[in-house]
Amino acid sequence: MIQKSNLRLKILIVCWLPLLFLLVDAVFDNLGSNPIRALHIRLGDWALRFLCITLAITPIQAVTNWRGMSEYRRMFGLFTFVYASLHMLGYLIVDQVLHWKIIGVDILESSYIWFGIISYFIIFVLAITTPNWSKKVMGKNWKKLHRFIYLAAIAAVTHYFWQLKGNLAEPFLYSIIVFILLGFRVLISFKTRHMSKLMIPKGRKTSKLSD
Ligand code: HEM
Repeated sequence: MIQKSNLRLKILIVCWLPLLFLLVDAVFDNLGSNPIRALHIRLGDWALRFLCITLAITPIQAVTNWRGMSEYRRMFGLFTFVYASLHMLGYLIVDQVLHWKIIGVDILESSYIWFGIISYFIIFVLAITTPNWSKKVMGKNWKKLHRFIYLAAIAAVTHYFWQLKGNLAEPFLYSIIVFILLGFRVLISFKTRHMSKLMIPKGRKTSKLSD
């Protein structure tokens, strides 16, 4: 029990570190010649990394049979939300100084931002429906809704790709990671469905056919 809460605390501390390092670099003027862009890039990168880590939990759980991992998935998911929110707020407050007219024009002209908005909207909905009570209220629909995380990841990678800033190696790498994780998820649900079909008693099948 103590070991589990120790691990939780360690993960929690590690997840805040990228933000702490960013703040230290900002205070000591270490963000390079374009600090606003550096802020965007670092927060955006970490939002995407946490999203990939969140998606990786189910495959890790399936491979290692480590049952108690869902609470870590929830934690990483919430950190995705924290970093994505700071990334979005950085754009609105630091970059555009809440100048709504300019923001409107920028959004209309830059299609890559649309994908950022789609991804953020999904991450936001998933974050507010994370608590246990919401899981209870939503029942089966909760799982269905939370599968949208894959769409959020696809939109985030498209948001990254669409910026077309010369070096496409990194967005390409994230696309491959998301593709592999998505493929793994499809494989797991296919296997689960196949297994549950095999577990249906034969008699029940016959009675259904004779209906
Ligand atoms: C309302 C939502 C969002 C807005 C307005 C937004 C805005 C931006 C902007 C303006 C940039 C360009 C930074 C630059 O190079 O000058 C950017 C880059 C980026 N954003 Fe977003 N974003 C949003 C949502 C997201 C979300 C949800 C994620 C990930 C989960 C994300 C991940 C990234 C990444 C990875 C980059 C590229 C960083 C790099 O060049 O290494 N963004 N975003």
